[in-house]
Amino acid sequence: MNQDFTVTPWDVSGKIDYKKLIEEFGTEPIDNDLLDRWQCLTGSVPFAMRRKIFFSHRDLKWVLDRYEAGEKFVLYTGRGPSGHTHLGHLMPWMFTKYLQDAFDAPLYFQMTDDEKFMYKPELAQKEAMSYAYENALDVIALGFDPKKTRIFSDYEYSKTLYRIATEVAKKITFSTAKAVFGFDNSTNIGMIFFTAMQSAPAFLPSVEAGKNIPVLIPQAIDQDPHFRVTRDIAPKLGYYKPAAMHCTFLPGLGGSDKMSASKPEMTIYTIDDPKTARKKILSAFTGGRTSIQEQKEQGGVPSICAVFQYYYYLFEMDQEKLDQREQKCLKGEIMCGECKQDLADRVVSFLEKHQENREKAKDKIEDFIVSDYSATYDKLKRPQDKKEVAKLKKTMKEYCSVKDGDRISIEKCKNFK
Ligand code: TYM
Repeated sequence: MNQDFTVTPWDVSGKIDYKKLIEEFGTEPIDNDLLDRWQCLTGSVPFAMRRKIFFSHRDLKWVLDRYEAGEKFVLYTGRGPSGHTHLGHLMPWMFTKYLQDAFDAPLYFQMTDDEKFMYKPELAQKEAMSYAYENALDVIALGFDPKKTRIFSDYEYSKTLYRIATEVAKKITFSTAKAVFGFDNSTNIGMIFFTAMQSAPAFLPSVEAGKNIPVLIPQAIDQDPHFRVTRDIAPKLGYYKPAAMHCTFLPGLGGSDKMSASKPEMTIYTIDDPKTARKKILSAFTGGRTSIQEQKEQGGVPSICAVFQYYYYLFEMDQEKLDQREQKCLKGEIMCGECKQDLADRVVSFLEKHQENREKAKDKIEDFIVSDYSATYDKLKRPQDKKEVAKLKKTMKEYCSVKDGDRISIEKCKNFK
């Protein structure tokens, strides 16, 4: 790994050179030819691809070939629930929602509560499970189709996943795990096994269908090491290699590095109230000069400005308007205060809408969550008639009211702070 930056599933730091990362990880860039093909196939190219926020892939061309030959693919992505969702997490999920709509694709969404419990010394099992519930609300709030989306947590779905995970684990040596993830003798053995759990959903559609199904995994590039291993062993198990699309990281409000829960004051959470979000944005790092006079004379530096990055990544989809903003900044025609206020307005209005949808998601959650412990097992064929729904709700209620076992108590989660 390059010395100037680190990108692993558990540590992202330094100034990331994404071009170098493509070389180091051995992925392929999403180039203009691929964008042209995308345009042809879907009729448009989303801004996240045009701006190369989604910049890298594995076997995307192959997935598109199969799609064009009439073989539909399944989407798979996930979350390690160790805290509340922030705007960075939403990026790959929003893109996944776009993919679901554009390709009419089912989505398997994994909550790796086991991973976070094993990785974080201070995190209790029930806390991780509670965050799985909280984070699922954010996923649902983005508008995924309940008939085509199943969300599951490893603790709740391990019976389904475990057989596949052990197939995978049997093909991965400790020496591979050490080389790929940097484990050493002090790593707990749960973490050494864990990658097998993250691999399992990539093969689940094929196991369920009884034939190979192409799978596409949208993710930020930090998750790629898991799927490099998954792809290596896939042919040994007779499965297709899962394809991937990788995005860059939404930076924190402090500027250069990834938005991360380790810096809460630089991170906007989906549950932040307007006042808190506004305050964080107003104290963001900018590319502004030391005085208004200087800024007017020399212009600002958008390339290092966190506020500009937020427009670029999420809050200004119109390319012409983004370019105008950049030019105005470079020419000293707009001051940082105004730019921040405008961003704060956009972020607050996004959060208000999202929080409203998040509230509504509480009533929809049983349409999405699947678990080995409930009758909601086969969710791709969701019961639509009232009798079935009532039965389902009763099962969920019983399931949610389990108090002291290892199972998640959703009632408790709702109150969890
Ligand atoms: P986690 O919880 O670290 O992150 C969830 C998803 O968000 C991406 N991500 C970001 N994207 C843009 N900007 C950021 N600042 C940022 N921070 C995180 C992550 O790459 C991820 O896509 N082990 C996984 C959960 C998982 C998963 C998967 C992820 C299970 N199966 C399949 C992707 C695909 C994890 O802890 O993600």
